[in-house]
Amino acid sequence: MKKLLLIPFLLFAALSMAACGGSDNEPFAPGQPGTPEQPGGNDDNDDDPDTPSSGGNGRYLVLYASRTSNTERVAQLIRMTLDCDMLEIEPETPYEDDYNAMLERAQKELAAIRQGNYPPVKTAVENFDDYDIVFVGYPIWYGSMATPMQTFLHEHAPKLAGKRIALFATSGSSGITTSVSEARSLCPDATIIDRTLLLTSSSLSQMAARVPAWLDEIGASRENPDTPEASAKVNVTVGGRMITATMEDNAAGRDFLSRLPLEVTLSDYNNVTEKIFYPSPALTTDGVTRGCAPTPGDITIYAPWGNVAIFCKSWSHSSDLIRIGRIDGNGIEALTVEGDITVKFERQ
Ligand SMILES: Cc1cc2nc3c(=O)[nH]c(=O)nc-3n(C[C@H](O)[C@H](O)[C@H](O)COP(=O)(O)O)c2cc1C
Repeated sequence: MKKLLLIPFLLFAALSMAACGGSDNEPFAPGQPGTPEQPGGNDDNDDDPDTPSSGGNGRYLVLYASRTSNTERVAQLIRMTLDCDMLEIEPETPYEDDYNAMLERAQKELAAIRQGNYPPVKTAVENFDDYDIVFVGYPIWYGSMATPMQTFLHEHAPKLAGKRIALFATSGSSGITTSVSEARSLCPDATIIDRTLLLTSSSLSQMAARVPAWLDEIGASRENPDTPEASAKVNVTVGGRMITATMEDNAAGRDFLSRLPLEVTLSDYNNVTEKIFYPSPALTTDGVTRGCAPTPGDITIYAPWGNVAIFCKSWSHSSDLIRIGRIDGNGIEALTVEGDITVKFERQ
């Protein structure tokens, strides 16, 4: 059993409509392109046996399973928005790196579950007493809830009795309906909230808007409106130097924050006018005001290409530039060097 470290995070305003569900009818063909695999980012939980301790407002717990971190990113955004606790549900045997091997393993595990044999997980929670809503997130595997989360729900069903569970999932294209039924039969005494959130490979980039809208729909919000405003502050390490940046309170800025920590190589563009990189997937720009006349320090997205461009020099107004933040003070000097540079962005 692991100890939950509670990390207070900040609230961001809700944006637009969320939609749920999707179709389970679309078959998943092994080897079909799923969502792009994202670099690592497993939350490192220590091995101390313990009960989750409360941090933030303590009303919500986000549980997630994730092999390639799509679901993890959604989980992190929920945690950040609600300022709540989060825990990764990890299989006892680590996920296969090889995609085909993972497909084969998943098929075997799903077949075993149908026979009542649940593949072991190494995560356990002592009790859920303090939580109003337990968020449960997972990837869709062969139309079903990923096996580690099925095991976790199976093992914790008695403790989850009477709790409200909010389901969210990511998939290549399949719907969430089958996994909702699975959750209901795994935890028959819990209340599975009808409104669920599914982000597929084509809608994952909209998560900065979809997640807060969904949280609004299910009535999940920060308990204490007096909690200090969410920090949009970012530490930027370049070379041996640490500078800071402040992100905009818009969907693109929030999406950027949800991906931190992030280490990237910034390429030089136009003779040290801009330092650029290509986030994958591209940052959402839904509903974000376009148009900017960049000055040194501005962090922008060039919409036609989807790259992030940090301006070292002023440039003329472009209606395709979206401002998502700014390097504080004179920090841009650290980036105003020739050639490629490696930079690490981290939340403060
Ligand atoms: C074993 C396995 C089975 C999958 N089955 C499906 C599926 O049936 N339908 C689908 O749309 N995507 C399927 N996918 C794609 C994942 O659901 C999708 O990439 C998801 O976002 C991965 O989430 P993660 O990055 O949190 O692991 C499958 C992926 C794997 C590894």
